[in-house]
Amino acid sequence: MVPETQQKTFYVETFGCQMNVHDSEKVIGTLLKQGYRQVETVEQADLVFYNTCSIRDKAEQKVFHRLNDYKKFQAQGKKFAVIGCVAQQEGEKIFEKAPHVSLVAGSASYRNLEKMLVQIEAGERRVTGLDDRQTDQTFETEFTARSNPHRGYITIIEGCDKFCAYCVVPYTRGKERSRTFDSVLAEARQMADVGYTDIQLLGQNVNAYADPAGKKSFAELLYAVGEVPGIRRVRFTTSHPRHFGKDIVDAIDALPSLCDHIHLPVQSGSSRVLKSMNREYTREMYLEKIAWIKSARRQIALTTDVIVGFPGETPAEFEETITLLHECQCDGVFSFKYSPRPNTPALSMIDSIPDEEKSKRLHILQERQREIQRANYEKKVGRILEVMVEGKNEARGQIVGRTSQNITLNFTTDSTSVPEVGSYANVLVTRSFPNSLVGELVQ
Ligand code: 5AD
Ligand code: SF4
Repeated sequence: MVPETQQKTFYVETFGCQMNVHDSEKVIGTLLKQGYRQVETVEQADLVFYNTCSIRDKAEQKVFHRLNDYKKFQAQGKKFAVIGCVAQQEGEKIFEKAPHVSLVAGSASYRNLEKMLVQIEAGERRVTGLDDRQTDQTFETEFTARSNPHRGYITIIEGCDKFCAYCVVPYTRGKERSRTFDSVLAEARQMADVGYTDIQLLGQNVNAYADPAGKKSFAELLYAVGEVPGIRRVRFTTSHPRHFGKDIVDAIDALPSLCDHIHLPVQSGSSRVLKSMNREYTREMYLEKIAWIKSARRQIALTTDVIVGFPGETPAEFEETITLLHECQCDGVFSFKYSPRPNTPALSMIDSIPDEEKSKRLHILQERQREIQRANYEKKVGRILEVMVEGKNEARGQIVGRTSQNITLNFTTDSTSVPEVGSYANVLVTRSFPNSLVGELVQ
């Protein structure tokens, strides 16, 4: 083994979604396997990785700020790698904007990471991994450095074929590629063997999952992972309403290990806007799916994503989004101002809503949703809910838990024996806030 002082060191900063967080865990796993050592700061590292996000303009700008901040380190021989969505989107232009970068690689090329590392170590100045988006290969690693020992991600499908008019993902992550049912199940079993109890299945369009062997559906995969001995919680994200079948709700109803939470982004409450976004469903179709969820035997929490100010969205169409949110009674809404993105069809539409108006609509939506959540969370007071213990909030003297519905439930206990992180506990809900609950441990 190489002594620690002679090992090459690396630092990784991750921006963006859970897919990126998990990709970084795989990239880190690969680097550790190659004998590199992870460090906590850019200053300590020989190799600096930025795993980037380009879903909205603000996210994209972050990486260029970082690169600018750390330009001074190039003289010390530090090498910089830009990976992920901005890398794929901007490609070799990044070398022009930031000449101190040595590697630019999109997510579909990470399976060639070992080879690219060798090229960097050999002193190649401009290594790229940008041409792999249209292959059928997925990116699994021999060793994944998961940051949490109890709750972990498994990617089941990469890429996206939906081409929503506003979205860069089909261009940055390439075409849809599902992993085999057997390999997903094997990974879930391995995780259970080393103590994981909570698994989150990931995909940009997770319910488009199609076993390459053609034998199993997404719902069947949910059942299989949920039945792995030791696994107590299974979540999945993100679902697309177009592919959302009732069999998914039936699976949650049938199997308690499948969490009672569905994230189903609607984006807009107006069928005209949805058509313009190329979402391939109408307001009515979305509401039909919500009716399945609401009529399940279990109380399934619903969260969604919304974009305000999409090109051409009229005040009346925005109001349709508000009425839809009232009908859906969501437990959480992630809302965004429309941000024009390179290469996307919406870029050629006139970005007709001034930023000020987008901000106004966002504010109205968030206020209305806050009231909806406030009333809904209040109804949970008096119930006993199971939480997974996530940590402690020393300042407040509370233990942090997460319910199956994915709601944060902070609690206290009279007992001197505090439940350990990763364990499960029953908590009586005593107070509610618009985004979290407070309670007391039930002994
Ligand atoms: N502008 C604003 N929001 C966007 N999203 C995706 N692309 C854009 C964009 N160009 C939002 C969608 C998606 C979430 C992950 O990000 O709501 O569901
Ligand atoms: Fe983007 Fe639409 Fe694919 Fe989601 S389904 S990643 S919003 S193109």
